[in-house]
Amino acid sequence: MSHNIAIDGPAGAGKSTIARIVSDKLGFIYVDTGAMYRAMALYMIREGVDPADEQMVARKALEPDITIRHEDGVQVVILNGENVNDLIRTAQVSDMASKTSLVGDLRKQLVSLQQKLAADADVVMDGRDIGTVVLPGADLKIYLDASVHVRALRRYNEMLEKGEEAVLEDIEKDIEERDYRDMNRQESPLRKAKGAVLVDSSDMTIEEVADTIISEYQKTLK
Ligand code: DC
Repeated sequence: MSHNIAIDGPAGAGKSTIARIVSDKLGFIYVDTGAMYRAMALYMIREGVDPADEQMVARKALEPDITIRHEDGVQVVILNGENVNDLIRTAQVSDMASKTSLVGDLRKQLVSLQQKLAADADVVMDGRDIGTVVLPGADLKIYLDASVHVRALRRYNEMLEKGEEAVLEDIEKDIEERDYRDMNRQESPLRKAKGAVLVDSSDMTIEEVADTIISEYQKTLK
């Protein structure tokens, strides 16, 4: 039987960075479920789907073949045979993913794919609904949080490093709004799963967070 670690939490808490380190250290496969929602969103954009038309989104969600592969430890998302890794990090795809991921029938498609991946391999999977919906029986469930201010500051510094303009107060406001949407949506709202360990990364280094999760995982093996 495979071993699974589920990591959920709000945007900017550091889930993907942490999940990558933990999976490397444990020899597990890292599954970034946000990338699957993004690949689905890219398909919807290409097909000209109006995200407000839920029935259309639900119908279209049945069409594409979305899979993931791992090449040199990097997750590659394949949409109908095409590697779309470099196409799914745009603002347009983020926006479409945030809208279309509200549709229950679309989520069903991706959840069943995620459950298959976790049944076949040891995975660290991150997202918003992993501990609550996708893998409620995971060996370890983590809710990774950080204060709005710290998450905004991390994003602000990232943008400055890239030479982009940024206003801290605006980023804080965006994060608050996104949290509200994620936590109050009808389908699979973001919340701490039953039995999940809360890790607040506000005052921790990346290494400290990764070590905490690994030691929590080791406890489950005893
Ligand atoms: O984590 P991310 O920004 O790559 O996620 C992209 C979008 O998909 C985001 O709007 C949240 C949504 N998502 C979701 O609803 N459930 C998941 N398990 C992962 C992502």
